[in-house]
Amino acid sequence: MKILSDGRLKHIAIIMDGNGRWAKKRGLPREIGHRYGADAFRKTVEYCSKIGLRALTVYAFSTENWKRPEKEVKSILALLRQYVDECEKNIEKYPAYFHFIGDLAVFDDELRARIEKIEERTKDRPLVLNIAFNYGGRSEITQAFSQLMASGKREITEEDVAGALYTSQCGDPDLIIRTGGDMRISNFLLWQAAYAELYFTDVLWPDFNEDELDRAIENFYSRKRRFGGV
Ligand code: IPE
Ligand code: IPE
Ligand code: MG
Repeated sequence: MKILSDGRLKHIAIIMDGNGRWAKKRGLPREIGHRYGADAFRKTVEYCSKIGLRALTVYAFSTENWKRPEKEVKSILALLRQYVDECEKNIEKYPAYFHFIGDLAVFDDELRARIEKIEERTKDRPLVLNIAFNYGGRSEITQAFSQLMASGKREITEEDVAGALYTSQCGDPDLIIRTGGDMRISNFLLWQAAYAELYFTDVLWPDFNEDELDRAIENFYSRKRRFGGV
């Protein structure tokens, strides 16, 4: 366990991939893979809070994931509701600022109101947890531009764009981890990934744990970030 106190690694983003394959390997339905994936996510949040990370952004459901069978989508939505219930119950002890990023218009009013209330009540926690749900990088950039156009701005700077993104409060990730073996971004944090260090692992998301995160962090610390310099 490495306490992240030197300021080099403040924000980690994770593409939590491989739940379906994890289940398939065990002859189980994909829905079970998502359930174990949700547990890996819970443990990851706890651990990130312990090591003093400032922001964790997790890709939970993409704008493209609606293409999946209805049964699977429903099971993911049920897990989300379960997680929201849990956060409400443990709100005093919940270790992070619970913050959703993505288009929440798909949720019913009741669920949205509950989420907003948890967000409001956890705002001051030291770790920002961005849960990317119904999230797509292109859609995020498009809504940012719509917002800037509506504000009547004639000239747009990079700061304006960054400020209109869902991540305006916590900035860009230093490290993006993708589990599940595929080496692609899948429409995640397209703008914010500009200078992120990328780390890919074959580990399937439900098997991801503290040791795997330590490995990714150690790997991050072995790299030299140049940001275009020498
Ligand atoms: C990631 O696991 C979870 C979501 C995309 C919701 P997958 O369900 O994509 O798992 P694989 O990639 O099919 O194994
Ligand atoms: C990316 O995984 C989205 C999430 C982890 C939520 P996918 O499984 O949807 O990505 P592709 O389809 O392999 O690119
Ligand atoms: Mg996948």
